[in-house]
Amino acid sequence: MAEIIDIRTDRDRALAEGVRVLAEGFPVAIPTETVYGLAADATNPAAVTRIYETKGRPQFNPLICHMADMAMAERYALFDPISRLLAEAFWPGPLTLILPLRPETREDSRIHALATAGLDTVGIRLPQGFAGELIAALDRPLAAPSANTSGKVSATSAQHVADDLGERIRLILDGGAAPVGVESTIIKVEGDTVRLLRPGGVPAEAIERVAGVTLLRPEAAGAAIEAPGMLASHYAPEAAVRLDATTIAPGEAVIRFGHDAIAGIEEAKAVFDLSPSGDLGEAAANLFDMLKRADTVGAVRIAVTPIPNRGLGEAINDRLQRAAAPRE
Ligand code: TXA
Ligand code: MG
Repeated sequence: MAEIIDIRTDRDRALAEGVRVLAEGFPVAIPTETVYGLAADATNPAAVTRIYETKGRPQFNPLICHMADMAMAERYALFDPISRLLAEAFWPGPLTLILPLRPETREDSRIHALATAGLDTVGIRLPQGFAGELIAALDRPLAAPSANTSGKVSATSAQHVADDLGERIRLILDGGAAPVGVESTIIKVEGDTVRLLRPGGVPAEAIERVAGVTLLRPEAAGAAIEAPGMLASHYAPEAAVRLDATTIAPGEAVIRFGHDAIAGIEEAKAVFDLSPSGDLGEAAANLFDMLKRADTVGAVRIAVTPIPNRGLGEAINDRLQRAAAPRE
């Protein structure tokens, strides 16, 4: 079973142990502001392989590489002017930029092709808080997907990680509940076009204000899906999920948002309120935990009431649609 160290009471030991296990080439579960990450040294192929093995993740699905600061990011990637503006506005924070890899990066400190799935681009973000300190202390970029079995709901607490991956990893660093609660927004700039590959913790509207252009959505782009992890049937609980529910069938678990009356709710197996005050930020922070809890009450189905598709609501609805998608 993984050791769990609380960074809020034991920060120095968490940093030291984190660096030690990472330097030995093993993955460590780390708190970030979005979700918990399963982190490993992005330059060490054995360490990156262990991420894929631990998650049961297909190796054609590239990982996000987390950097300590802008100087580290620039050692590995080339920034166009719009990406630079976005980095200045939102880093450290829940934004991932897909950027061309710098071809001339020193051989011995290169991000390994296993982390980028052999692409000539890399997904980079600077996480807030402890994760950034850990990367600086290790002095290597950390490849880190969400710390969950591939295809399952992402972890927003150390307990979620322990329940899912505890038997398969050595160390979990506990930073409490992830404050944002949904993964980073993924953006790729192509010339004058700015593509939204995944809605996430930075609302699309905020990115449009800084970039000064309207984002191209995946559907509008009409191209092959460039974030393979974003295929349907991701974020799947065991129970079936029904969206836009305005009435409840007996025995369903309800995940609700807002104050509208819901017919049949008194027959529900359990009711989870994403945000009693109707706040989308609070709803995002609660989303994955409530999906997991709704999955444990023995309900016939999980019914989710409508959620506005603005601000963080776009990321919430994206994750819910994947949770509700038909399973293979
Ligand atoms: O908030 C987050 O982004 C969390 C925390 C831990 O940082 N990480 C996360 O990683 O969600 P993951 O691996 O679950 O999702 C990474 C997504 C995948 O959909 C992957 O396909 C896409 O990023 N991605 C990574 N590198 C890419 C690249 N070079 N081009 C296109 N998509 C890429
Ligand atoms: Mg994930």
